This record gives sequence, structure tokens and C-alpha cells, in this order.
Amino acid sequence: MCGIVAYVGQRQAAEIIIKGLKRLEYRGYDSTGIALLNKGLNVYKKKGKVAELESFLKDKNLNSTIGMGHTRWATHGEPNDENAHPHYSATKKLAIIHNGIIENYGSLKQELIRKGHVFESETDTEVFIHFIEDIKENEKCSLDEAVRLALTKVVGAYAIVVMSLEDPNLLIAARKGSPLVIGVGKDEFFMASDATPIIEYTNEVIYLNDQEIAIINNGKLTVKNTANLPLTPYVQTVDLELEAIEKGGYDHFMIKEIFEQPRSIHDCMRGRLDSSTGRLILGGLREYINKLVNADRIVIVACGTSWHAGLVAEYFFEEFCRIPVEVEYASEFRYRNPVIREGDVVIAISQSGETADTLAAIELAKSKGAIIFGVCNVVGSSIPRATHAGAYTHAGPEIGVASTKAFTAQLTVLNMIALSVAHKKGTITEQKYHEMLTEMENIPAKVETALKLNDQIKTIATEFKDSRNFLYLGRGYNFPVALEGALKLKEISYIHAEGYPAAEMKHGPIALIDAEMPVVFIATKDSSYEKVVSNIQEVKARKGRVISVVTEGDTIIPKMSDYVIEVPATIDSLMPLVSVVPLQLLSYHIAVMRGCNVDQPRNLAKSVTVE
Ligand code: AGP
Ligand code: GLU
Repeated sequence: MCGIVAYVGQRQAAEIIIKGLKRLEYRGYDSTGIALLNKGLNVYKKKGKVAELESFLKDKNLNSTIGMGHTRWATHGEPNDENAHPHYSATKKLAIIHNGIIENYGSLKQELIRKGHVFESETDTEVFIHFIEDIKENEKCSLDEAVRLALTKVVGAYAIVVMSLEDPNLLIAARKGSPLVIGVGKDEFFMASDATPIIEYTNEVIYLNDQEIAIINNGKLTVKNTANLPLTPYVQTVDLELEAIEKGGYDHFMIKEIFEQPRSIHDCMRGRLDSSTGRLILGGLREYINKLVNADRIVIVACGTSWHAGLVAEYFFEEFCRIPVEVEYASEFRYRNPVIREGDVVIAISQSGETADTLAAIELAKSKGAIIFGVCNVVGSSIPRATHAGAYTHAGPEIGVASTKAFTAQLTVLNMIALSVAHKKGTITEQKYHEMLTEMENIPAKVETALKLNDQIKTIATEFKDSRNFLYLGRGYNFPVALEGALKLKEISYIHAEGYPAAEMKHGPIALIDAEMPVVFIATKDSSYEKVVSNIQEVKARKGRVISVVTEGDTIIPKMSDYVIEVPATIDSLMPLVSVVPLQLLSYHIAVMRGCNVDQPRNLAKSVTVE
């Protein structure tokens, strides 16, 4: 949460920063602000989105070749103009933008108030910049040294950029826990929370590591760590096309990303899986694959949609690899004292690769000696760098806050890992292995077919857009899909929705069913089909309105359902890749019809870099 962007060079900084903030808006959109240096260190900030800041800036002098901007997801202090970043220091000679949380800001603030400091906002961030300035004045040191000393005293997570009125060619950045990328151009530098604001200008980037401080002074970059050791930054080339981060004719990123799935699933398997030769190779795992083959237990840690992908994986790891699996909410796992034994392998799943809870769960498991595999989408993000081995999902940038193509890509990678382990372990027959590989190659076409249901689903959405509650039910492999369908609906349409294993319904949720209650059954033909048929009858007997996702050609369930959505048949373990598609479309259309901002739903952010 929170997007930060900064520039120093020859160009007009404001244009680059505003454009960059729009690309980072998915990270938070409570308020936006910019700091520029011209006849003073000027901060302009506003509650609301970048568009609001833009109109506020219309009559301002934006002439500056250095600057920084911020788009906020509030943690400390409500979203308003005062709490928006950048924040000034006490003398207003310094300004800061910050992504993260300073946990000990309360005690620092008390100490500073005692010394006479007055604060304009409720944020932890403002305390941080006052603290830096206080150190600078007391220690009579340079600004970068003051930043370094401050960092040794603050507890929490941060990516920061600091600007100074007295040093018009200086930008200082640092990170711990929150991401920061530096773009290296010809006589110019960019800084941002991810590479998307940068790639238009340069593809040479440096991913700053935890505890590192970058100082750009008069066109020269130096990097050191908080222990004051100079470091040689590693410049790498990012492979990201501008087109991939734009809407390309679609109304929203979410629908673009839903429709990209045949390609993203295909990209995820490209070069890794070949059914004609039986080849299944995940390069990033090669060195450690035997750890998985010999694992006594797999512990999956993740949050939100990635956690749902983990739940599906539990089913197929157990089915194919015969390894017991536990799927944990990263946020719970990290605060327990989990039992991790030798022989346990942890798999962390994350689209952004920056989720604070997942990162903390990884660190905890690592400290207990576990081997960690990462399944992430954002290349170079923190989780892949914190894990021993892993595989990228290669779904391309996912900008809609609601995760869609990342989920199906996660399932694809996890399926490939499971099959490769099962094959090495001998827990899958050759025949089944080849059948699975062939069917995985068919999935993009099946997803393409499911996407053709778009118009039909739009009609169903019209019927249910005003519902106040929804129930999603499924069994086996489709149970996590029910959870995912419910999460998609609630997060973008603000309709209350719950997902349940279909059989659990009778233990409570059945009390909710009446003629007003839409119940979405994910009821494709699999080993629990007959049981689900009974569950549908239980709902019908109580006059619930049934929307069923069924396998093409099903003749039984359509007779009991008010609405039927037919998806192509596939192997049980691969069905979530197909059956989730209509649920993504349903929530998208309902949210659009309700006038919701589907790409940037209220209160949410794409990367949850705070706990
Ligand atoms: C998904 O639609 C959500 N926005 C959210 O639950 C998300 O999946 C979760 O925050 C985890 O993010 P990650 O995959 O980037 O770690
Ligand atoms: N803690 C800061 C604030 O509330 C930054 C928030 C964030 O990065 O999410 O303004």
C-alpha cells in the first residue's frame, strides 16, 4: 500500500511523477501529493485520487527537475488533506514520502513534542521526518547520515524518499520491508514502488534491498547500508512492456485481466511443460525439488486470493504427491508458534510478492530452519528474494485490485509443481501424468470457451445486481472456488457474500436461505457431483434462487436451477482454472452495474505491505 515515485534529472519532474502516480494508484488511493523544488520546497497534496491532485495543480508553478509524489493507503490517520504525503519537517526544509508503518512513532512523537515539535498530521510519517531533522540538527551531520541514524532507531517497515530545500540536487531513499526500485537513465534517476512508472524511460533498474540507503547527489548514485558500509548496486534489465500496464481498449483493468487468462495461463506453462515429450521443468525449483519430493509435510502460507489458490493446491498435492498439506493464513501463522519440523517445506504464494504478512511468515519459517518455495507474480519483488527457490507465475502485471489472472496462473504453477513432484516420487502413474500434461495444455482453450459466456453472465448479473447477500457453495476442488467467487463479489461490489463447502451449509448457513437469497453452486461433474445435486435440492426446497456452474451437457442440475452456466469439462484438479472464470465475470458485471469502482474498490489496496 502506498505508491511512491520520485525523479531527478533534466526533465520536468511533475509530469513524470503524475504519470507514475497513476500507474501506482492501484497501491492506494486515499490521497495524493507531490513535492517540487522551485523557489522553495513546495508540497501540494489532496484527499482523493491523482485526478483530483491534477486539477488542484492547474494554476501552480510546477517547473522543477526534481520531485517526488505519493498515493496513499492510510494506516495512521484518516484520509484527508493534512494526512496526505509528502510531509514536511519542523522547519519545512525537508520533505518525505513513505510507504509502510513506523511502529514506534508514538514514543518518538512524545519525545519530539517534549522538545517543542508541533505536528500537522496524525501520521507516523510526519514523526519520521521530524525525527530525521532533529537528528541532523543535534548531530550536526549530513542529511544522509541523519537518515541513516534515524533508520537505526525506527521500528517498522518503510520505503522512503527524502528531499531537501538546501540540497536541490539530492534525493535520499531507503527501504526495509516495503519495495523500492531505482531506474537508472542517462543523467537522470527515477524511484518508485514498482517498475511501472519507470519503464517508459529506462529499463535499467536497481531493486534496493532491505536496510539499504540510496543517495542521488548531483547526478551520482551511491548506495550504502544502515551499518554505513558502502555497497555496489546491482543494475538489472526489466523486461516489461508499456502495453502490459495499459487498458488496451477495455473499460477496466479487471475485465482486461479476466480476458487475458487464456494467454497468461499459456505463458505460465511456456517453456516449462511439453506433453509430447513429457517434459515438465520449473527452472527455479530444480536445485531444491528433492526437498519437496522428500517432504514429510507441506505448509502453504498466503493471504486472500493467493490463500484460495493454496487451498486448491492442498487437494492436488495430497491427491498426486501423497504429502500432507496444511494451508495457513500468513497473518495467523506468523503470530503462532507454529511447529516446523525437519522435513517440512513451506510454499509461500503471493501475486505482489510484497504482502507483509506473507513475508513475515516466510521469515518465521526460515528462522525455524524450513526450506521455502515462493510462487509469485511480480518479478524481483521481496518474497522471491526472501525464499530459497521458487517459480514465477508470469501472468504479467495485474493492476485491478481484485486478483483474477494471478489466481489462475498460481493454480497453473502449483499444478506443475505437484505433477513434477508426483512424477519424481512415483505417486502418479505414467498414464495419468501424461494425461494431466495434455489436459493442462488444453486449459487455455477451455478458459477461452468459458469467456464466451460473458454476455450470458451479464444478463444474470442484471437479475442479481440489487441482491444484498450471496452464498457460494462447492465441494472438493470447487470449494476454494466458492470462497474465491464470494471474495471477488464482496470486494468489488460490496455485496455481502460467503463461500462454504456445500455440505457445511446444513450446519448453519441454510438458515439464511429464503426466496431472496441467490446461491451460486459450482457443481461441475466430479467425484462429489451426486452429493452437490442433493445440496442444490436442499436449497431449492427452501426456495433459494440457484445459479449453477455446471459441466457442458449436464442434464440434471439445469432442471433444478434458476440459471445455468455451462463450462467445458476437464479433469477435476484442473476444473478451478475454468470454473472460476464465470464467477470473476459475474462479480465484475454486478460491480459495474452498481456503479462501483471495480479496479480500485474502497478501502482496499493491491499490495498489502502493512500487517
Ligand atoms: C484479491 O482479490 C485480493 N485483493 C487480496 O485478497 C489479495 O489476494 C491478497 O491481499 C494477497 O495478495 P498477494 O497475492 O499479492 O500476496
Ligand atoms: N503509515 C503511512 C500513512 O498512514 C503510510 C501508509 C502506507 O504505506 O500504507 O500515511
